[in-house]
Amino acid sequence: MKLKDFYKDKPVFIGSFPSVMQIPFSNLKEIAFIGRSNVGKSSLINAVFNAPGLAKTSATPGRTQQLNFFNMQDVLMVVDLPGYGFAKAPKDVVKNWNDNVNTYLKGRAQLHRVFLLIDCRQGIKQVDLDMMKMLDNSAVNYQIVLTKLDKISLSEAQKVKSEISGIYKEHAAMHPLILFSSSEKGIGLDEIRGEIFDLIK
Ligand code: GTP
Ligand code: MG
Repeated sequence: MKLKDFYKDKPVFIGSFPSVMQIPFSNLKEIAFIGRSNVGKSSLINAVFNAPGLAKTSATPGRTQQLNFFNMQDVLMVVDLPGYGFAKAPKDVVKNWNDNVNTYLKGRAQLHRVFLLIDCRQGIKQVDLDMMKMLDNSAVNYQIVLTKLDKISLSEAQKVKSEISGIYKEHAAMHPLILFSSSEKGIGLDEIRGEIFDLIK
């Protein structure tokens, strides 16, 4: 399959699952998008796959609360996950989301890449480092995407990027290439499309 053909059709929504046990069986390769609440996971999925409105987005953090599955051309499952680090939801609710996300990430043999999104205005936080460590320990490949590039200057964004490059050696499962994106302005989307396509080629 050529890249152009792969991205020709939109992903198909499979379902929203409150827990890992409810995910229907599939042997497709999988990718997932994680990151702090409001970092732009759902928006990036919609932008990368040319599917406005497919994954539900919101200006208020905590929009995505379940594990959302999308089938791309019967060759790839795309998973939109609830964000972490959201302080406003009730504690037990947050714990439940986090448990689900962690259980999913740790035990998913077909998961080929996690895109770990970081808002480039905020940089990397302790919650991000905790997530990275968990993925390192579970040997889950992850690639960092700095989001909302339209909100800051390129030089500021480069600074955040080199800060993160500086800790690459400490993270066994981290992909060396750090990506930039703006779902709003369409920046960096082709690079992400290329990365995803390489996984299913
Ligand atoms: P949760 O599901 O709550 O964890 O959030 P999320 O990470 O899925 O974020 P979502 O895609 O819902 O976007 C959160 C907010 O950021 C929305 O108001 C989006 O419009 C905005 N946003 C997302 N991507 C970009 C971007 O590239 N640039 C700008 N300026 N805003 C963005
Ligand atoms: Mg979301």
